[in-house]
Amino acid sequence: MTHPTPSAASSAAALSATSSRRARLKNATRDIHERLDKRIMDFQPFADRERYTAFLQTQYALHRDVQALFVDPALNALLPQLAERSRLALIEQDLHDLGAAPPSDQPAPSFTFAAQHHVPTALGWLYTVEGSNIGAAFLLKAAGRLGLDGRLGARHLAPHADGRAAHWRDFIAQLDDVQLSPEEESHVDAGARAAFAAALTHVERHCKASRQAGR
Ligand code: HEM
Repeated sequence: MTHPTPSAASSAAALSATSSRRARLKNATRDIHERLDKRIMDFQPFADRERYTAFLQTQYALHRDVQALFVDPALNALLPQLAERSRLALIEQDLHDLGAAPPSDQPAPSFTFAAQHHVPTALGWLYTVEGSNIGAAFLLKAAGRLGLDGRLGARHLAPHADGRAAHWRDFIAQLDDVQLSPEEESHVDAGARAAFAAALTHVERHCKASRQAGR
């Protein structure tokens, strides 16, 4: 990670002591996370509202990929109140705040509604998408420089009412309670990496387009 805040770093340390699955996932995705952070920050998404809107489009695409998982009944049974964690509607509101709409020409989402999802793979994707909120403290601060906050344009980056770290800790505790075989664990890792890869693809798609449009 590139810019951990002191409080984020200490919450991370506390968590890694309590969850070996999460520590393994963090390790398994370290390289691709660093690549994604760098790719996003190289784009300078907080340079102006136009660039931030392009960043929002990437967030929209990633969260749309997994919306079918957030509302899946079987996954909600394993991870109680999972559906309430979805941030897709907040991203839609953020786009609306900025006078933008979700991209019209999108590929099909990675997961479709009413399908039966492979649980270990789904857990990996959810780790990545849910974990992105723990790093969002830094992004929220940067969005503040554009006059945006948890009530305008950066709603999806705001902490949960329970507190950012506590909300993440609860998710990790739920994730840890799921019993998996060693083979299934490897599918969780692959799912987490696939989610990062999807995020990178979305950044390439939306952030490059904005660059070409005169930057
Ligand atoms: C779609 C984009 C992103 C995704 C999917 C993502 C995903 C994640 C995940 C899964 C974690 C939790 C890792 C763990 O502790 O187990 C995390 C943490 C973190 N992310 Fe990201 N991230 C994204 C973008 C960014 C960007 C652009 C930055 C800043 C340059 C960033 C900064 C951080 C930081 C500082 C943490 C650590 C917080 C802590 O350990 O307490 N992330 N992110």
